[in-house]
Amino acid sequence: MPKDLTQLQLLTELEPVVANQLDRHLATTKEWHPHDYVPWDEGRNFAALGGVDWDPEQSRLSEVAKVAMITNLLTEDNLPSYHRTISEHFSRDGAWGTWVGRWTAEENRHAIAMRDYLVVTRGVDPVALEQDRMVHMTRGVHAPDHFHGMLDQVAYVTFQELATRISHRATGRVCNDPMADTMLARIAADENLHMIFYRSLAAAAFDLAPDQAMESVTKIAKTFAMPGTGMPNWRRNGVLMVKHGIYDLRQHLDEVLTPVLRHWNVFGRTDFTERGERARQELAEYLDKLGRDVVRFEEQRARILAREAAKAEALDPARV
Ligand SMILES: [Fe+2]
Ligand SMILES: [Fe+2]
Repeated sequence: MPKDLTQLQLLTELEPVVANQLDRHLATTKEWHPHDYVPWDEGRNFAALGGVDWDPEQSRLSEVAKVAMITNLLTEDNLPSYHRTISEHFSRDGAWGTWVGRWTAEENRHAIAMRDYLVVTRGVDPVALEQDRMVHMTRGVHAPDHFHGMLDQVAYVTFQELATRISHRATGRVCNDPMADTMLARIAADENLHMIFYRSLAAAAFDLAPDQAMESVTKIAKTFAMPGTGMPNWRRNGVLMVKHGIYDLRQHLDEVLTPVLRHWNVFGRTDFTERGERARQELAEYLDKLGRDVVRFEEQRARILAREAAKAEALDPARV
C-alpha cells in the first residue's frame, strides 16, 4: 500500500502549482477600489458631530437585504481568524506565503467596501453592526477539530469561496439598489478567482495523492458549514436568508458541491486504491441523501411561503 505523503511533502510538491496559480491569478485579477462603489454624496454626520443618528426609516433596504448584508459583512470581518487558519495549514514561505498575504489583502477590501456603503447609505444600524462585529471577532472562527492540514483546508476553501460568491451575488439582487448590486458583483468576482485558485490546487493534490485528497474532500463536504456560522443572530438570520434564496441547500448541492466535484472528476477517476474508493463511496451516499433532503427542504419552504402569502392577502387584499 502506498504511504501517505507528509504535510511537508505535500507543501513542497505543490509549491510549483501554487506559484503558477499565483501568476495566473495576478494576471487575471483587476485592480479595484472600494471608494468607487460608495455613493459618498449621500453621506452625512451622525449625532456625535452635530448630525442625526441612525433611524430605521432612513434605510432603503428590505429586512432580508439588511440581514444578508450584515451576515456577509460580518463573515468578511472575521478575516484575522481565516488568515490565522490558512497560514497555519499552508506555509508562510515561498509562493505559499505570497499567496496567503495576497489573498488576505484582497479579502480585506470586501469588508471595507461593504461597511462604507452601509454606513454612508444608512442601510443598517451602525451601532448594532459594530456591537455584532465586536462579539463575532472576539469569538473568532476556529477550524473544526476534524480539520487536519493543507488538504482539508484546500477542500474547505474551494467550497467556501464558491458559496460566498453565490451569497454575495444573491445579496446584491435583494438590495434593490444598482450600486450595491455592482459592488457585490465586484466582490463576488474576487471570490470566484479565489475559488479557481483553490480548486486548481486541489485538482493538483488529487493527481499527487489521490486517496488522501479524496478522503479530505469527503470529510469536508460532509461537514461543510458556512464561515459565518455562530455569529450573532445566526439562526434567525439564516432562516430568513434561506427562505429568500440567498444561500440554501439547493444552491449548495447544485451550484457548489456538484460542479466542483465534477471539475475534479471525482466520480470518473481511476487512480484510487481501496481507501480512496471507500471515501468516494461514502461521498456518493452523502450526496444521495443530500439530494433527498433538498427536495424535502424545497417542499417545506414552498409551503411556508404559500402560507405567508395567504396571510398577507387576508390582511391586505389590495397589496397582493
Ligand atoms: Fe471575501
Ligand atoms: Fe474570497
